[in-house]
Amino acid sequence: MKALVLSGGRGTRLRPLTHTMAKQLVPVANQPILGYVMDHLKEAAIKETGVIVAPETQEEVREYLGDGSKWDLKINYIVQDRPLGLAHAVKTARSFLGDDKFVMYLGDNLLGKGIKDAIEKFSRSDSHCMIFLKKVQDPRAFGVAKLDEDGNIVGLVEKPKEPPSDLALVGVYLFSPVIHEAIDSIKPSWRGELEITDAIQALIQKGYKVQGEILESWWLDTGKKDDFLAANTTVLDEYVRRSIEGEVDEESNIEGRVRIEEDAIVQKSTIRGPVIIGKNARVENSFIGPYSSIGDESVIKDSVIEHVVILERSKVFGVVRLEDSLIGRDATVKKANSLRGALRLMIGDHSQVEI
Ligand code: DAU
Repeated sequence: MKALVLSGGRGTRLRPLTHTMAKQLVPVANQPILGYVMDHLKEAAIKETGVIVAPETQEEVREYLGDGSKWDLKINYIVQDRPLGLAHAVKTARSFLGDDKFVMYLGDNLLGKGIKDAIEKFSRSDSHCMIFLKKVQDPRAFGVAKLDEDGNIVGLVEKPKEPPSDLALVGVYLFSPVIHEAIDSIKPSWRGELEITDAIQALIQKGYKVQGEILESWWLDTGKKDDFLAANTTVLDEYVRRSIEGEVDEESNIEGRVRIEEDAIVQKSTIRGPVIIGKNARVENSFIGPYSSIGDESVIKDSVIEHVVILERSKVFGVVRLEDSLIGRDATVKKANSLRGALRLMIGDHSQVEI
């Protein structure tokens, strides 16, 4: 079994962050989303992995993943010149995939549980494709499955205006090599993309067995700011254990599940978990409330923040109070004169805001 990880495409929905970084590399709880994907491949003992990259962002993806040895696997990078769709990405990887079964994992999807069991089940079954479905509030943003009374999948449609159900397609797919023939039979959709959803629909029409499983764990598509904050909240909730490697002075209070990474400094502050404070970060005379991640080398001073994601090397000075916000790398937020009330911000990399 091989793996194909999709880390190309354009990150328009997470702009401005994705002006300067691949969307798959945006960190959730201080780890790039792609890192969680790779952790799942490692856990499933996948060895041969193709990673689809875009010309614009390939350098940083290669820098982060390297040769894959960190996850005990071997990476073959495959450049997709233009983001012409998920099925087009499979087509681009055709020679790498050969005639093997493979798992395709979208590099911006976060799943609560790994894919080890699913791969074992698929390997034992006679299905040609296995997909995962999850109930969502607004299915119009996803691929959507249509089921018959017995729960069998009878059709799939990509981003329908009138969804036939509330079951969205999760970004993990298991395929036998017949998918290539299905991809060859489809045409680009109204948005100009070769849709994997249409290829799976073609499999169904050709009479191949497509197995749908309801995903039991949580699943997050980290597309937009609010989804992204939700992802951070869920991951912090799930993974953070109390661990204090940095320095905390006697005037500070560390409450609950807080991870303070090495060389971080906390002075005269209260931190209420779940929270992560990254390496070399500094928190001074501040309150950091639940569901916040402070990136490596960031500085928070004289501020009150809660439910905020701050990426690397940013500064928040004298802000009372900052909530529900996402701040990019190398950004500065500082108080200019007195203004009361909560602030809600989405600030891109290298931005500077004075309030
Ligand atoms: O997240 C699940 C959804 O993913 C499914 O419900 C949909 O059926 C499926 O089409 C897909 O929809 P999105 O519109 O969210 O896909 P997006 O364009 O965000 O691309 C998903 C990942 O694949 C992302 O990491 C970028 C990468 N990609 C995308 C395209 C279009 C590529 O590597 N190459 C591409 O050509």
